[in-house]
Formats: sequence, C-alpha cells, structure tokens
Amino acid sequence: MSAEIESVLHENRVFDPPAAFAKAARVGSMQAYTDMVARADKDYEGYWGDLAREHLTWSKPFTKVLNQDNPPFFKWFEGGELNVSANCLDRHLNSWRKNKAAIVWEGEPGDTRTLTYQELAHEVGRFANVLKGKGVTKGDRVVIYMPMVPELPIAMLACARIGATHSVVFGGFSAEALKDRILDAGAKILITADGGWRRGSAVALKVMVDDALKGCPEVSTAIVLKRTGQEVAMQEGRDVWWHDAIAGQSPKCDPVPVDPEHPLFILYTSGSTGKPKGVVHSSGGYLLGATTTMQWVFDIKDEDTYWCTADIGWVTGHSYIVYGPLACGATSVMYEGAPTTPHAGRLWEIVEKHSVNIFYTAPTAIRALVKLGDEWPHKFDLSSLRLLGTVGEPINPEAWMWYYKTIGGERCPIVDTWWQTETGMHMISPLPGATPIKPGSATLPVPGIFADVVDQEGNSLGPNQGGLLVIKRPWPSMIRNVYGDPQRYKDTYWGEFGGKYYFAGDGARKDEDGYFWIMGRVDDVINVSGHRLGTMEVESALVSHDQVAEAAVVGCPDDLKGEGIFAFVITKGDAKNDDALVKTLRDHVAKEIGPIAKPDHIKFTDALPKTRSGKIMRRLLRDIAAGRETRGDTSTLEDAGTLESLRKGE
Ligand code: WT7
Repeated sequence: MSAEIESVLHENRVFDPPAAFAKAARVGSMQAYTDMVARADKDYEGYWGDLAREHLTWSKPFTKVLNQDNPPFFKWFEGGELNVSANCLDRHLNSWRKNKAAIVWEGEPGDTRTLTYQELAHEVGRFANVLKGKGVTKGDRVVIYMPMVPELPIAMLACARIGATHSVVFGGFSAEALKDRILDAGAKILITADGGWRRGSAVALKVMVDDALKGCPEVSTAIVLKRTGQEVAMQEGRDVWWHDAIAGQSPKCDPVPVDPEHPLFILYTSGSTGKPKGVVHSSGGYLLGATTTMQWVFDIKDEDTYWCTADIGWVTGHSYIVYGPLACGATSVMYEGAPTTPHAGRLWEIVEKHSVNIFYTAPTAIRALVKLGDEWPHKFDLSSLRLLGTVGEPINPEAWMWYYKTIGGERCPIVDTWWQTETGMHMISPLPGATPIKPGSATLPVPGIFADVVDQEGNSLGPNQGGLLVIKRPWPSMIRNVYGDPQRYKDTYWGEFGGKYYFAGDGARKDEDGYFWIMGRVDDVINVSGHRLGTMEVESALVSHDQVAEAAVVGCPDDLKGEGIFAFVITKGDAKNDDALVKTLRDHVAKEIGPIAKPDHIKFTDALPKTRSGKIMRRLLRDIAAGRETRGDTSTLEDAGTLESLRKGE
C-alpha cells in the first residue's frame, strides 16, 4: 500500500472518469465543463439567471439577477419571490415524486423511518402550524438544538415555510455555547429533544437546554421532542412536548413567499476572535447554489439513494442533507448515531441495507475507519456505490487510496469538495463525469465560480506558488452578513483586498493544470475533524477558569483529526500544575464550548513568547507543539529565554 501511495505522489497519477459514468452523467465531459465556465465568464448574470429560472420555482419572477450597488452587500434575484419549503416539497407533490422517499432515516438503535415527499410535506405543514400558533412570524429567529432525527429537517422546513429564520446549533455543543447562540440570534423559541442516541447511550439535550435557558429570559417556548424517553424536567408554561403540540394540527399550511434575500438561516461558525460568527444565508441564492451543485457535483439522479454522513448542525448537513437533496427531489439517507455503533462496520451496513449509491463523508472519518481494518467494509456489499465524496479538510493520499479501493472498488470517482460555511455550496470540486481527479486535490472551481490564488497584493500567482485562496466574483449562495455585525462581515471577508475579492482564510496553490491544492488555514483557526475552531475561543474558555492566568492555543498535527489542539497555559500562583489540573481544564473547555474543543495537549509554562508589542508569536508555539525545531526569525522576540524554558521538559 505505502509503495503505491508514494507512486501516486511521485507520478502525480490522474484518474479519468470511468467512461460509463461519464456517459450517463449530468456533466459528462471536460468540454461540457469548459463550455459552462465560458458561458459564465462571458455572461455572468445571464448564466446564473437562467439557472435560477430553470432550477427554482418562483411565486414571482425576479427582474434583476445581481445588484452590486452596495458591495459587499450583494443582492441576488431582485424583485422575485419564492418559498424554500415549497421548492423542497410542494413542487414534487404534483409529480410522480409525491410518493417517493424523501428521507430514509436510520436511528442508532436500528429503528428506521421513511418519509415520502407527501408525508414530509404533511409533517412540515403540521409543525409550521404549531410555530404559527406560538406566535412565530416572518423574520423571527428560531433556534433548533436536536439530535439527527427526521423532526430536525421538519423543524427547519417548517421555519422556512412561514419565513422564520432558523439557527441550528450542533447537538454536541455545550449549554454555554447554546446560550451564547440563542442570545446572539435573539431567539424567543427553541426546538429541542429529550436526548439522542450516541454510542449506545442516550445523550441528554434537554438538560443542557435547561441550563442554557437560565440565561435566556426572552425564550418563551421550548418545544421538546420525545426521542430517547429519558427523564426530563418540563417547565410549566414554557416547555411543551412536540407530540402534544402537533396533535390535531392541520397538515396544510400555506407557504409564505419571501424575498430571495430573506435570511433562511443563521449558522454559527468560528473565526479568529473569541466570538462565534452568525453566518447569514439567503433564501433564493442559497437554494440555487445547493441545488445546482447537488446536480453537478453529486450528479444526483432520481433513482439514486444518496447519503451524507454529516450532522445537520454543520453547513454540510444544511446544504447536502436537507436543502440540496430535497430541492432536487432526491432520496436522502439520514443516520442518527455514531459510525462505530454497535460495530465498526455500521456505516457499511447502512450502505448495504439501503443500497446507497452516493456516499459523502469527511477525511477524519475515513482515517478513523481505515484504522478499524478492512475486514469491516469487506463484510458488506458495497457494490451499489457509484460515487464518493469528501469535505472538511485536505484528504491525504493514503486515506484517498483506501477510500478509492476499499470502499469504491476502484470504480467510483471521488469528489473532494472545497467549500465553507460561508460559501453555502461547493466551490472547488471535480464534476465526477468530467474532471480527471488527482488524489488530494479539490481540482477545479465549479462552473460559475471564479477562484484564484493570489499574493498579499491580490496579484495572481503562477503554477505551484503558494498564496491566498480568493473568490473573485460574488456568487448566489454566498454569506450575506454576520448576524448583527455588518462591519465584521466586511472586515473578515472583504477587508483583505480592499473589497475586491472574497477571502476566508485558506492558503492554496494551483498546479500546472490549474488544479487547486488547499494548504489549510492561514489565520488563527484550527481545523479539528473537518470543523473550524477559533484558537481565541478555546483560549477564552481556558482563561475563564479561575486557576488560569493566560493561555495560548495552537493547532498541532493529529493523525486522526487532521489537527489537534495544543494549549500553553500559565496558571495563577496558587495552582498546582499537575495531571489533575490538566483534566479539570480539559473538562472545563468541554463544558464551555463542547467536547470537540477539548485540548489534546496542555503544557504549563511560566511565560509565552511575545513580540515587544505584546503579540504572542504563535508560529513559535506551533513549532513546539509539532515537536519541530524553531524555524524562521526570532529576533522580534521580547525575551529569548522564554523559548528555552518552554522547550524544557519536552
Ligand atoms: C474550512 C471550512 C464546508 C463544510 C465543512 C467545513 C476546510 C473544507 C475542504 C477540502 C481542504 C477543506 C477549509 C475551509 N475545508 N473542505 N475539500 N479540502 N480543506 O466547513 O467549518 O466552514 O470550514 O474547511 O479550510 O476554509 P467549515
């Protein structure tokens, strides 16, 4: 195996789309791809405008494709009106898809549920009526904190139906993180569950909610789904059971048409400061991005069973479990639990059970599955698979080859999709029937996206020169704002190049074929298991502990997670810097943010390497965390002795 990997790197092997795949694909040749790119380049608005008319159902047609009067606050499809839930549901009900499976759900304990488009529409209608009854109206924010059960997309679509803006908070986040998001979004209503199944046990959600809501006096209603049946406290007047709320509700609720710029959802993500950013997405442009890429990148067909293993708490689940697949009338598989419960072959068992054709997961998951051994995938029939995908971080050639051979049987193309919470849709990715693929490269921009690698001044760089990854034109599913903080939106994404280009913090290079190779973040953000965490966030969590005086957090290499979290901590005078404190601090961070943010390593120190102006020199800390020699210039260091003492005791 390793000899082959070397040869992959050495020869730069390229895998062409299999002929039969290309023949049946929606985009079936490089010629078709370059034609699309050329059309978009020549007539940008015409290109996206035509797609918006073709792929979305408008209750009122738009009159202008792109309004650029007030950059970077771009507006798409001005004058139009649509409803996202009507696009995901109603328009399929007048077709043969009415009784097609929309969601095939698998609970961790092995219970299953299939909802046809008609059934899903009825559930959404009922729940939309519940929300209306609770006084939720267009523009209100609704926070959703749920396990991976069908009621989660039902709740999202019900919000969309009445024009409410949802904000899904990942079920792995702590009460503290949930509270911050409820407050930032100004939500008055919360949708949750008693708990969810994970690794064989019932993980409590309502307990977290009770804790979070102590700090959210504005929340007047919490709707609680009974999933696990665990004991929960219901607060009179505030908490209602989902099943009680929907009892007797009409399954019909008219969709409220909204402006295409109306915020469909807010999703919080990490940046380089301590405060999570509420990324605001639109209705029309967002849905167009999710729908078109669902077709181009996943080549979705009506006969496909498609499965994205992400949690809906992340953008991947929003775009590629809920909105993209449903708008396309596809069958989307949804799984509640852990990939290794009750056995290490659970994912492959689900592939076999539902004859999954398209499978989308993260490199971190692939690396973990490699470790469990080939006997697990070999136990199951994976021959239904025709296409594989990855997202979240660069995939190393070793994991790529395993995915390609052991899971894909050397017959399935792999789409390595580069995108972000802010981009809403795939931005750089192979189109599987067209693009020759290279292990480890996200390949080329999807047609209609103009990406480039530039230097600090914004000049395009030549082949294989590392630089900053930028997007040169606004695109339909782009972030519209940082909720409540337009200045932060401007500064973070458009500040780097004076408003000319979108920049969200990745470094990259393009090879001689124009293929993009993503090199990771260039800001103070770590990519843990394919999800972004701001180093500042973890630092603030550490410093909030009463024994911590100062903390600096950097990423370090981690075989499984891509990047691990390494924390340098200065404690207060009376603290005892022992293993017990390490454990206490790790638990403290888990409580403040969630288990995903727990530092993998904590090193106590007396001082941190700082410049004369007091800035922590993270570059030096990263070298120490990675066990490397100090590289680069240390002349700006205020006290050279700090480095030596940091390295002591390694
Ligand atoms: C960051 C965005 C988009 C959903 C998952 C993460 C990294 C994402 C790739 C890829 C290399 C990737 C980038 C990006 N990233 N996909 N295919 N190859 N890196 O969403 O939390 O918004 O993180 O993930 O660094 O900026 P997110």
